[in-house]
Amino acid sequence: MRKVLSILLLIGLRVSSQNALFIPDTLVGTNFNLSMHEDSVQFFAGNISHTYAYNNNHYLGSTLIFNKWANVTINVTNLIKDTTTVHWHGLHVPSKWDGGTYSPILPGGTWHPQFTIMNNAGTYWYHPHPDMKTAEQAIKGAAGLIIIRDSVEGALVLPRKYGVDDFPMVVQCQQYDSMNQAMPRGMEDSTLLVNGTMNPYLNVPAQMVRLRLLNASGERVFNFGFTGNMQFYQIASDGGLLDAPYLTTRVRLAPGERAEVVLNLVGMMGQQFNLMSYGSELSMGIQGGPTMPMPPGNPPMDSPLNGIDYNIMQFNVVAQTVGAVTTIPSVLTSNNPIAESSANITRTIRFTADSAMVMDGPFYFNDSSFSMMRIDYRIPINSIEIWKLVNETMVAHPFHIHDVQFFILDRNGVAPNPNELGRKDVVLVPPGDSVRFITKFTDFTDSIVPYMFHCHILMHEDDGMMGTFVVLDSSAFLGVKQLNNNNGLTVYPNPATTELRITNYELGIKQLRIYNVLGEEVQSATITSNQSTVNISQLANGIYFVRIITESKTYNQKVIKQ
Ligand code: C2O
Ligand code: CU
Ligand code: CU
Repeated sequence: MRKVLSILLLIGLRVSSQNALFIPDTLVGTNFNLSMHEDSVQFFAGNISHTYAYNNNHYLGSTLIFNKWANVTINVTNLIKDTTTVHWHGLHVPSKWDGGTYSPILPGGTWHPQFTIMNNAGTYWYHPHPDMKTAEQAIKGAAGLIIIRDSVEGALVLPRKYGVDDFPMVVQCQQYDSMNQAMPRGMEDSTLLVNGTMNPYLNVPAQMVRLRLLNASGERVFNFGFTGNMQFYQIASDGGLLDAPYLTTRVRLAPGERAEVVLNLVGMMGQQFNLMSYGSELSMGIQGGPTMPMPPGNPPMDSPLNGIDYNIMQFNVVAQTVGAVTTIPSVLTSNNPIAESSANITRTIRFTADSAMVMDGPFYFNDSSFSMMRIDYRIPINSIEIWKLVNETMVAHPFHIHDVQFFILDRNGVAPNPNELGRKDVVLVPPGDSVRFITKFTDFTDSIVPYMFHCHILMHEDDGMMGTFVVLDSSAFLGVKQLNNNNGLTVYPNPATTELRITNYELGIKQLRIYNVLGEEVQSATITSNQSTVNISQLANGIYFVRIITESKTYNQKVIKQ
């Protein structure tokens, strides 16, 4: 027997016994220490797999629990031999503490971000974001979950005992090479991990059970469901609670996306079921769906899991706990999405590639590759914006933006499914589709450190499918200090539709310039009288900055054209 086993080990047979699902420990409070280190895991017989992990874990990191409005400090120490960063995915924080590509932590260094938790209760996560190395570090295990709690969610009768009736579920599909090492660009991914556990099972009590699903894969989209098309409630999307539980049988999550679901297991003691991905139902071009024939010159994308329905993990229903939650409320919160009519501007972001045949990248936004030296958008603080995402490539891309949560307005002109109605920070855009979302850039300005937006397929991001933006207060925006307008100068009406009137009590000729939100001059005039009218009917609706230059002073005023 021993001989047979060692022969099996020698030929690298991948042993598939079941393992209890690993539940990461939690860190709570207002001061947190995270140290990223090198580690290893015996995922397979034969060679160990080299990993990255945080704190005492061998793979992934502790779950951080934050309370809304708490001021937290996090000390992030880099114990690996490479530069890293830690990004708080989904959190609304100042750009200098956002942990994007612009905040490197050198080997041996410690970074001390501090910020107030402003997001709603929900499931968020953290992961590295170093320039061109996000895939390599995240795929080796550098990621962890964040749970935010608040008074709205806390007042609801919902399962929230971590590891008892409320479970973290960090789901990944990876490709390992013949030496058992993770392949950051592996598109033949077939090793499924939940919380870093291979072939997991979990005992769950016969009551309402909450699962916090995160797709932390490099590229695969999961079409989650349970055996027998068991119904479940989706209660939250990326940025927290939906208005009401949504009874469904599927939740599709692209890399970066989260969903909280509640399973009603009352009366099911002794039964078993599986979490599955129904890949056969994904449309062509979505990673994990049916594989398309590859054009010559492209690497293979023929994972055995593509286009099929497969098991991810097993659940065994065991006895109810004391004080079990056995029903859930029918109303959860009210998200009050931003009205489309309040938008100041629409920005169009086309997903592009060098040619229409490209399936593995590089991909771009509006034909340009990421540059740390370039600011793509300069956004005035409190700007309400519609971003229109147009996928002109052959594959689906999960678009993610830092700083804000957004509301999806429509997909190809049609209102989103109920499960995408809440606050979102990632949205999957299949080939040929266009998605519009609306958001507001509030609270934080910084003219130096940009935020980023990118595709959350990690190799696409590393290959340059990423852009930057800064949020500026309106005076910094024009590079001139905003003067108060009580100096006898009035620009009205505001909002304006067809004309602007300028009244002033200063003598002399004045120059009037109107700039759009990109800082481009769109109109100019010379004002000679103390009561002038400027026709603006040809300007598109949106925010403008009106600058009036007298001999001695410059006045700025923000005006909305509608
Ligand atoms: Cu999880 Cu910039 O991303
Ligand atoms: Cu992010
Ligand atoms: Cu992409």
